Amino acid sequence: MSTTTTCVVGLTWGDEAKGKIVDILSAEHDVVVRYNGGNNAGHTVAFDDGTHKLHLVPSGLFHPEVTCVIGGGLVIDPKVLLEEIRANESMATDLRDRLFLSDRAHTIWPWHKRIEALSEKHLGKGKIGTTLRGIGPAYADKANRVTAVRMGEFLRPEHLQPKVERIVRQKNEVFTKVFDDEPLDPDAVWEEYAAYGEQLRPMILDTTAWLHQAIADGKRVLFEGAQGTLLDIDHGTYPYVTSSSASAAGVWTGTGVSPRAIDRIWGVVKAYTTRVGEGPFPTELTGPVGDQIREQGNEYGTTTGRPRRCGWLDTFAIRYAATVNGLDGIVITLLDVLGGLPELNVCTAYQVDGKRLEAFPADPTLLPRVEPVLESLEPWPEDISGTRTFDDLPAAAKAYVERVEDLVGAPVRMISVGPDREETIRRD
Ligand code: IMP
Repeated sequence: MSTTTTCVVGLTWGDEAKGKIVDILSAEHDVVVRYNGGNNAGHTVAFDDGTHKLHLVPSGLFHPEVTCVIGGGLVIDPKVLLEEIRANESMATDLRDRLFLSDRAHTIWPWHKRIEALSEKHLGKGKIGTTLRGIGPAYADKANRVTAVRMGEFLRPEHLQPKVERIVRQKNEVFTKVFDDEPLDPDAVWEEYAAYGEQLRPMILDTTAWLHQAIADGKRVLFEGAQGTLLDIDHGTYPYVTSSSASAAGVWTGTGVSPRAIDRIWGVVKAYTTRVGEGPFPTELTGPVGDQIREQGNEYGTTTGRPRRCGWLDTFAIRYAATVNGLDGIVITLLDVLGGLPELNVCTAYQVDGKRLEAFPADPTLLPRVEPVLESLEPWPEDISGTRTFDDLPAAAKAYVERVEDLVGAPVRMISVGPDREETIRRD
């Protein structure tokens, strides 16, 4: 079977360096599609002239022959999208002509960001630790239906204007009566957002129909997941998750492309584990080794700049994520960061009160009590960032990769040993 469609999905809590992998694979595809989330994502792509941070536009944008699609499963902040297009236009040739926005995608408005900030503040210690980009409230409105706006509605401004006024009036009731906060001015909001809609209009289309045709025409399509499986609204560590389908399952809901049309699903993990925001993290290292990983891996959030929590690779959680996604292959990123650590462990199982768990638990009160069962592996002192073939890796690094394959039950297809495109070992 020739491979025409690929999904790249995060296996943990996001930040697995998927941006670099999607950028590399974009050269082998005609279309790159984002299918979930919004500008809570931070995808970093590094090449010759420097580092580019993307939040909404698919990481294929720097390949001039690639069409970029933002699917219906996203929540789009129109202001942020326009800023991102402007910021990247000089490097991404003809971007406005090859970026399509689904008319089914939902939109983020000022009330979403405001309500999220108020709610997180109100929750205090019990907060989710969100990115404060309005993602959760926008998806909540999507489910609520009557207070949501889809991208396609920007094509019918005469219908949208009274709707926005009605929504603002409704939201103002909550701001003023529940949170004792200032109301929003409906006219000012409309004026600002109608202007964004006007600029985005030429890019809005029925991307579901467009993708069906592209696949029928034999175009090679790459689906780019944002966040990761453990942040998936259904399969992640709920309630400390994002509000979208961040596993491969998001492809079908978020683009309208059938699961049967996906030839290959690759899951991306770092060589260790990180998490930003609140929520359980069984293999977290709070001492000097965790700090060393954070510094060597520059583990600070692309979107919010927050220091990431760091810990050992959790193959128990990854095996669960691999099964949820139906993986064909694993991509290990940041393997170079482990070089020079004083010790090296991987988590192979979870136990609670001395009893091993059979499966990754759904109960949010159980996960914080989980003790990781650790297996010690031989660390390596070498800097491996110059290595380009698997055989040239130090024996301990090869053994680490092979142990991950055994524990997760899928082959490692690609290994990243540095941020640049060239700093990659391929095994596919
Ligand atoms: P939200 O997506 O802003 O609602 O945040 C919900 C949770 O998901 C928080 O713990 C965030 O830190 C986390 N999160 C959201 N997007 C990302 C991402 O792209 N990488 C890593 N964590 C993320």
